[in-house]
Amino acid sequence: MAYGLLKGKKGIIFGALDESSIAWKVAEKAYEEGAEILLTNAPVAMRLGSIKKLAEKCNTEVVSADATNLDDLKNLMETAKSKFGKIDFMLHSIGMSPNIRKNKPYNDLDYDFYNKTLDISAISLHKMLHVAEKTEVLNRGASIVALSYIAAQRIFSKYSDMADAKALLESITRSYGYRLGNSLGARINTVSQSPTKTTAGSGIAGFEEMFNYADKMSPLGNASAEDCADFCVMLFSDFTRKVTMQNLYHDGGFSMVGISDAIIEDYIKK
Ligand code: NAI
Repeated sequence: MAYGLLKGKKGIIFGALDESSIAWKVAEKAYEEGAEILLTNAPVAMRLGSIKKLAEKCNTEVVSADATNLDDLKNLMETAKSKFGKIDFMLHSIGMSPNIRKNKPYNDLDYDFYNKTLDISAISLHKMLHVAEKTEVLNRGASIVALSYIAAQRIFSKYSDMADAKALLESITRSYGYRLGNSLGARINTVSQSPTKTTAGSGIAGFEEMFNYADKMSPLGNASAEDCADFCVMLFSDFTRKVTMQNLYHDGGFSMVGISDAIIEDYIKK
């Protein structure tokens, strides 16, 4: 059911790759709730083609932009300005670790790859905020959401250098959130999401086990990409005007559980 929560609002969604992407679900939901959106992804993702289907569905277009490239981001923000004037929300749903892709263990990282992980998965948020500020594309009270994972706070052994990227992402959220709050009344938050079956998620070794374990630990079960889209839409809406610089767990309660009955029962069965 749609409530018109984002009626009259305009925004940019980064990171919809295919139908399983969290950003894909957020785009659909934001559109359903009355927003006008602009989609963007890296040139390589554009070539895969499926994001164009999403653009048709949401009655919009896709602008190719590598989120680590300032010129690409400037072109994107200028396109948003000419289309919308100013925007009210942005979703950062971007993550990639070349070290994880190439199975480099955490104590033997390739440092060029490490820089890429941090640049793509965290510093890109800083760059996108910086360019948005310089191009004056953000409306007063705009809301920015970036997706994080609890490995920023605790060790998840297979999450490798992505854990460092998420810790940096959450720190940028606070540091930039303070400044944009003062200057524009804008909000920035991270949503720390349950394991979710997407291209990025499934790239983590042992993902299926992490997914099942989290599901059994969480009293509400894992939050799906659709659930996450609902939460993001609420954060873009006027109902969360005073929420900023937070890392908000959207994980079915996982982050507050030490051990659950379901996990204990698994051990008894063994
Ligand atoms: P996904 O693979 O569908 O999305 C990742 C996106 O990042 C892709 O669209 C990809 O094209 C984009 N990207 C990569 N390099 C880029 C660049 N240089 N410039 C612009 N875009 C680039 O996977 P998912 O899971 O939807 O990931 C979205 C976010 O959610 C990521 O930040 C991820 O770390 C986070 N997250 C995912 C969880 C999961 O279990 N899937 C759990 C918690 C957080």
